[in-house]
Amino acid sequence: MDLEEIKNKVKESADIVEIASRYTSLKKTGRYYRGLCPFHEEKTPSFYVDPDKKLYHCFGCGAGGDVIKLIMEMEGVSFMEALRSLANQYGIPFTISKKRTRQEDILYEILQSAMELYIHELWKRGRGYNYMKSRKIPDEVARELNLGYAPNSWNFILKALSGKYNPQQLEAAGLIIKRDDGGYYDRFRDRLMFPIFAEYGRVVGFGGRCVSQETEAKYINSPETAVYKKGKTLYGLNWTKGEIRKKGSAIIVEGYMDFLSLYSAGIKNVVASLGTSLTEDQASLISRFAEEIYLNYDNDEAGRRSTARAIPILFSKGLSVRVIDLENAKDPDEFVEKFGQASYIYKLEEAEKGVIFLFNYYGRENREIGVKKAIEAISYIDDPIRKRYEIGELAYVSKMEEDILMAMVEGKEKAFAQTRPSLSPLEEEAIKTISCCSEKFLSSLEGESSEIIRNSRFGYLVALAEAVASNIDNPTELVDKNIRAEVSKIFFKNEKPTTSPEKIVKNIVDSILKEKIKKIQMEIKSAEREGNIEKIIELMRKKQNLIKKVRGKNG
Ligand code: UTP
Ligand code: MN
Repeated sequence: MDLEEIKNKVKESADIVEIASRYTSLKKTGRYYRGLCPFHEEKTPSFYVDPDKKLYHCFGCGAGGDVIKLIMEMEGVSFMEALRSLANQYGIPFTISKKRTRQEDILYEILQSAMELYIHELWKRGRGYNYMKSRKIPDEVARELNLGYAPNSWNFILKALSGKYNPQQLEAAGLIIKRDDGGYYDRFRDRLMFPIFAEYGRVVGFGGRCVSQETEAKYINSPETAVYKKGKTLYGLNWTKGEIRKKGSAIIVEGYMDFLSLYSAGIKNVVASLGTSLTEDQASLISRFAEEIYLNYDNDEAGRRSTARAIPILFSKGLSVRVIDLENAKDPDEFVEKFGQASYIYKLEEAEKGVIFLFNYYGRENREIGVKKAIEAISYIDDPIRKRYEIGELAYVSKMEEDILMAMVEGKEKAFAQTRPSLSPLEEEAIKTISCCSEKFLSSLEGESSEIIRNSRFGYLVALAEAVASNIDNPTELVDKNIRAEVSKIFFKNEKPTTSPEKIVKNIVDSILKEKIKKIQMEIKSAEREGNIEKIIELMRKKQNLIKKVRGKNG
């Protein structure tokens, strides 16, 4: 099926009333269904769903569109992602992009089964359950978050699942570990289990807290697997994204227990970064749901260092940042336990602005460094109004003139401009082509070049072309924030490309292959240093193949 067919099929099959009901409760009134608008706060319902035309519209805030738009808006995803998720839900084959492999399906299945086994063990109300109660986790929260217990056994999972799966598969799912003698044993033993879910609610991994005395590591986590990428996951987001979107803000904490304490206390706009250094991917992920972030890492030096590092990353994704200071508690979990939910909410209200935190943190000994670091962070902010605002905050604490600070920020930006990635002439030509004739661009992506481009850093061009071809509103929303303005400008100017689509595609593929060759060349050098002959030979062969490809394409 082509994109248009999939789109129509999805719209035809999807039950917009059922889908809208996931976000608000609807009542039938005549031909329509009516409810409180999920896009804005209101007391009287002005959100209408038309089951015949398969459209929704809010008379309060003006939001409206079809079922795909609804998912895009509610889940904060791109057109393609919304389409894919709906196609999956309604069993419509989605064959345009790379299919999930069978291998990954098996991992999801194994993880799901393991989760169910662990849940079953927890509710036998033995050691795991008792520990959970000692941590004051309410039963209903444990059920909601699918907590479990891995019994104190070397082969619980191994025995339970080896009838259906082979050890290699269980190992690939991260559940068992290979011994030197070739045997296997369970990774998680005698631990309270926290399943980690991907955004759309599939289990991708686990964290396990030891239940007995802390002889081993306090927490053990799933390793990275084909379906679990630590730096791209935020624990809890699958449950809390609705609340985060509604509030417009998210609290980021370090650990499972911090998440659980806040969640149990009814503070549900929270996620845990699991470990302290927030990644750019995690920041991008949360920026789809929140505008404002409350950082609440542990009240220790490591926590403060991570907070300081996270601020510019969050700024670069368009988020504003506040920092919570817990004073007399070591982490949010302990704070809520000691002082209660109301005090925590008070802490949120008085949380200090990110720039002020930076100024104080780096300026402890030397105020100048404090100013410099705060300026550096501010220069990551795109929005001029927000930039002004943050400068105002900094001027206030540092007692420096706003104009001077502004000049410093602008100086920083000039220095950045040279290092910041921007569009290459090749990309510009491609975007001009996509803007005027996306179909031509797509049809010149035959055979191998399509896959090569998709899997490279130019993959966004294909997604963009597909979005334009399918006539969605604001296709440029798809591309990364860093280049969005530039891409929009090209769309707006609507200049004609001077190169043919075929030539552009060929040039892109060439440049990808050449980058790859360069990389291999570097690997060869390091293999030479190691004197690893086998590796050198293998790399040389790879390099030759790539060179042939480049020649083939041009020949
Ligand atoms: P903490 O050591 O602060 O744990 O680690 P905690 O949340 O206060 O735990 P409790 O209250 O003693 O149970 C914070 C987070 O760092 C990761 C976990 O994600 C944990 O929730 N961590 C910590 C590990 O992965 N391994 C460890 O051994 C310790
Ligand atoms: Mn902690």
